[in-house]
Amino acid sequence: MGQHVRVLIPEEEIEQKIKGIADQISEEYKGQSLHLICILKGGAMFMMELAKRIKDVDISFDFMSVSSYGAGTTSSGIVKIVKDLDEPLEGKNVMIVEDIIDTGHTLNHLSKLLYDRKPKSISICTLLNKPSRREKEVDVKYSCFEIPDEFVVGYGLDYDQHYRNLPFIGVVEFDD
Ligand code: IMP
Ligand code: MG
Repeated sequence: MGQHVRVLIPEEEIEQKIKGIADQISEEYKGQSLHLICILKGGAMFMMELAKRIKDVDISFDFMSVSSYGAGTTSSGIVKIVKDLDEPLEGKNVMIVEDIIDTGHTLNHLSKLLYDRKPKSISICTLLNKPSRREKEVDVKYSCFEIPDEFVVGYGLDYDQHYRNLPFIGVVEFDD
């Protein structure tokens, strides 16, 4: 392909971190219900690995797919719902599970939109966070890793739909 992926965060480190976050969530929501919302497609692998490690919480799933209007690799700030949720949010403890927060446009917009559906609470859990790129404020409750401003793939994240299945987080490098 003329490119290869350099490992940034190895699989064992990701799993260890997810276990730690799952323990915190188990503690916080002990004996309660928690409705996990996966932001497709990037958040899928992370959400499943997280959900299976949460204990003593009544977990439910829903899935949503969004896209930013406009071309290019940076968010425009306007979010289009490609696939909406199946279930209402009213009265529920909701957690948005995302692969990465970059500029923050997507989640800034999405959390407002979901807040209007009257959940009991809403929080954000992300696998990766690039704080140096933030343009819009996002209140992130759980973040597994803060990473530098590099384009990463794996563990659900893609480069042109490739590499989502990699069990680690890596950086695409182009061979010359
Ligand atoms: P934001 O609105 O800029 O925060 O955009 C977040 C979305 O951009 C994520 O859900 C990803 O789909 C995508 N994205 C941002 N940075 C990366 C990256 O390094 N690799 C893969 N996708 C990324
Ligand atoms: Mg995404």
